[in-house]
Amino acid sequence: MSILNETMILHGCDYNPEQWLDYPEILQKDIELMQKAHINCVSVGIFSWAKLEPEEGIYTFDWLAEIIDNLWAAGIRSLLATPSGARPAWMAHKYPEVLRVGPNLQRNRMGQRHNHCPTSPVYRQKVHDISLRLSERFGTHPGVIMWHLSNEYGGECFCPLCQEAFRGWLREKYKTLDALNHAWWTTFWSHTYTDWAQIEPPLPSGETGTHGLTLDWRRFVTDQTVDFCAMEKAAVREAGSTLPVTANLMGFFNGLNYFKFKDVLDVVSWDSYPAWHNDQMDDVAVAALTALTHDLMRGVKRENFLLMESTPSHVNWHEMNISKKPGMHELSSLQALAHGSNSVQYFQWRKGRGAFEKFHGAVVSHDGRDDTRVFRDVAALGADLEKLGEIAQSKVPARVAIVYDWENRWAFEGMSGIKKERRYVETVLRHYATFWSMGIPVDVVDMECGLDGYALVVAPLLYMYRAGFAQKLRGFVQAGGTLVGMAFGGVVDENDLCYLGETPAGLTDVYGLRSEEVMPQHAGQENHFIWNGKTYGLGDICERIAVQGAEVLGSFQDDFYAGEPAFTHHEFGKGQAYFLAGYADQDFCGDFYAGLIQALKLERALDVELPYGVVAGVRQGARRYVFVQNYLDTPCTLNLGDGVYTDMLRGESVRGTVTLEGYGVRVWAAEV
Ligand code: GLA
Ligand code: ZN
Repeated sequence: MSILNETMILHGCDYNPEQWLDYPEILQKDIELMQKAHINCVSVGIFSWAKLEPEEGIYTFDWLAEIIDNLWAAGIRSLLATPSGARPAWMAHKYPEVLRVGPNLQRNRMGQRHNHCPTSPVYRQKVHDISLRLSERFGTHPGVIMWHLSNEYGGECFCPLCQEAFRGWLREKYKTLDALNHAWWTTFWSHTYTDWAQIEPPLPSGETGTHGLTLDWRRFVTDQTVDFCAMEKAAVREAGSTLPVTANLMGFFNGLNYFKFKDVLDVVSWDSYPAWHNDQMDDVAVAALTALTHDLMRGVKRENFLLMESTPSHVNWHEMNISKKPGMHELSSLQALAHGSNSVQYFQWRKGRGAFEKFHGAVVSHDGRDDTRVFRDVAALGADLEKLGEIAQSKVPARVAIVYDWENRWAFEGMSGIKKERRYVETVLRHYATFWSMGIPVDVVDMECGLDGYALVVAPLLYMYRAGFAQKLRGFVQAGGTLVGMAFGGVVDENDLCYLGETPAGLTDVYGLRSEEVMPQHAGQENHFIWNGKTYGLGDICERIAVQGAEVLGSFQDDFYAGEPAFTHHEFGKGQAYFLAGYADQDFCGDFYAGLIQALKLERALDVELPYGVVAGVRQGARRYVFVQNYLDTPCTLNLGDGVYTDMLRGESVRGTVTLEGYGVRVWAAEV
């Protein structure tokens, strides 16, 4: 049933015809230009509610029907949105309860978007009613291929309804107040609850020191949002539509645990806006973070995903809104494919005339021309994507998993102690970047995911163990897996209560050691250890550990704990576990993982020497597809050795020595 099963790559954009209904010539021109740009799909209706229901209960869908018909007559598919991301003024005016209440306990006014209460029965009813009707009208239209539920779910509401729902959620979870009081350790500062009604969400003017409460509130916000999303899905299903549903997620957005969306969404999609060419990080670093984020989004369902939004040029909300330089559009778009996307879609098709996003990049600018650099780049990419249809059927073949867990992040970032600066995502990225630069595909998993099929699991900064995670890692190593863990792991349980006894809890015999004392390092400060005759740095959060069977591979060089273990190895069952007593520097990650990659016989996308800034990604299907990407603005030359490939975009055979221009990208296929 899914578009992901087809042999095509989607090339599309957010299309906002509701802004142009008074400009019929523009609407007509749009379709002609879309065909020129090789656009094969659009997302429509995302912000159309005021035009679809201009008065309460009066639905005016004919204009949308005409748009969808005209698009389809031109071969362009529609991903139809439910409009819950922004509501009409009449609704906010008549039913203030649909608007969100902030942490100051004041209700927002009508304004902005994504400004709704997820609990409000009125809002849910209104969203249900219009979604059902949209589904009745368009759910079997041959040109409509998918439901785009809402827009970028996110944010929290502190209204009385949400607070009551939170208390209900807690009752369901804990059953008794005794259980809740124990889990939250409320005897501390005499905060014991004696009635459910006393419980409030974490508020700046109220409780912020009870970590278990904060964590449960964030879990509740996720569950309430998933529930809202499920309500929208049920509404379109109620009319009999069997089309797949997606929602556009936001990568590392910290407000929701996206892994909890895996069952409600048929397809994951996301909005990617890397800040290319900025003055803080070089393009290679931006590319590594973007690659990791694509892999995270693929990880939510462990399936291919859609790149729902990206800019064809620049955004309007970065510090500095810089256009992609020549080559970067094709390069960054094909990067998404390399990591499992089956689409390249944009925000937005055409720049609006007024309001907030009039200067956001678009395929068509205010001049309406099709001979601009941006339009030509988009059209060229569209033509290229048409040659890559068979790739839609392929997958990223990862045998390495890196654990990134939102609840761990909330707990780690929310705890008080050790040091103020929290570098969780950065730590995950540090380990990930090494694999990325070597062309080793990686899955991103959370603690609820299975680990079967992986040869190597990297577990950076997992302060909290939950969901039977220690058990899972044990089983993984026992069965022959290789585990890399690091300092400050397995400290608290899923309630954020410290484990009593040795840590990393439940894994001390797997690692062959126990943690003894945390040694925070100042920014830029590192302790050191020597391994294979070379000195490496360990920083951020270091730890004094006591070995209990592990082999010491390197010892700290500095401070009063010089001579104590810094890097260890231990065999357990049929597998092995490495432990790093701190945040390892890039140099170490490079050397260490290069060795492991060889020892574990992990297959690289391209088994050749790749200079800094040049990386290769791989997807495996009927053939093996290799994406060679140059993130430098200067040319690079690769020696392919015995490798022979077909360049899918140029239709030529590739062997020997190959030169890629600055920001160049190639897609090569090899027979398997
Ligand atoms: C988000 C939204 C879009 C648009 C873009 C601008 O991704 O979903 O509606 O505002 O940002 O970059
Ligand atoms: Zn609310």
